[in-house]
Amino acid sequence: MDSKVVSKGLAPVITIDGPTASGKGTVALGVASALGWHVLDSGALYRLTAFAAYKAGVNIEHVAEVTNIAASLDIMFTSEGAVLHGSNVEHEIRQEHIGKLASVVAAYSSVRKTLLDRQRAFRVSPGLVADGRDMGTVIFPDAPLKIFLIASVQARAERRYKQLISKGISAKLSDLTQDLQERDERDKSRLNAPLVAATDAHTIDSSSLSVNETIEQVLNLWRNVKGLGS
Ligand code: DC
Repeated sequence: MDSKVVSKGLAPVITIDGPTASGKGTVALGVASALGWHVLDSGALYRLTAFAAYKAGVNIEHVAEVTNIAASLDIMFTSEGAVLHGSNVEHEIRQEHIGKLASVVAAYSSVRKTLLDRQRAFRVSPGLVADGRDMGTVIFPDAPLKIFLIASVQARAERRYKQLISKGISAKLSDLTQDLQERDERDKSRLNAPLVAATDAHTIDSSSLSVNETIEQVLNLWRNVKGLGS
């Protein structure tokens, strides 16, 4: 087993970072299910913060108020989705307007700091697959396997379109493409934990890969990591 896997006696983590709609969530679920590990959808925490602020009528520009909201979130992740203060809000937090607000609150360093320990608490045995933007760079820098999952804007817009329609959420491809580009720009150019590949990340371009092929690539990389020291 690679030395990073057993270092500090912590459960192993596979991090999957990448831009919006690159397929991180689906791939993370597939890898976690194959390994029997836990999953952290870190984007959901920013979406929940944004949604809670929106519901409370808080001005999204008020950093201190938004940070208070992030600190007081009562969240549970169930097989039916995210539960906030006792109500299932999975459908609401996946709406595009909440995604946009999430990208705004995610740029606040105080919000990111507030959500840091919550994310690290997901690292429990037998292992964790964590997806987001800064999983490999900030939250789990010692992860034994880091993936940076990319796909062309066109491929991502089409996937997001199908995903939203299948959930009964209306969408327009041209709007989605523009939103994706704007969100990429904001996620990459922010000062705090910008979207960037960790120097030791493996980049996978999934534009022309199926979900199963992408999952298989990650699992192969994990087998290599495990095989390193043995
Ligand atoms: O992955 P997603 O679309 O659900 O994420 C929603 C927003 O949260 C996205 O615009 C970027 C932000 N985010 C982040 O800054 N850091 C993470 N680890 C995960 C998401």
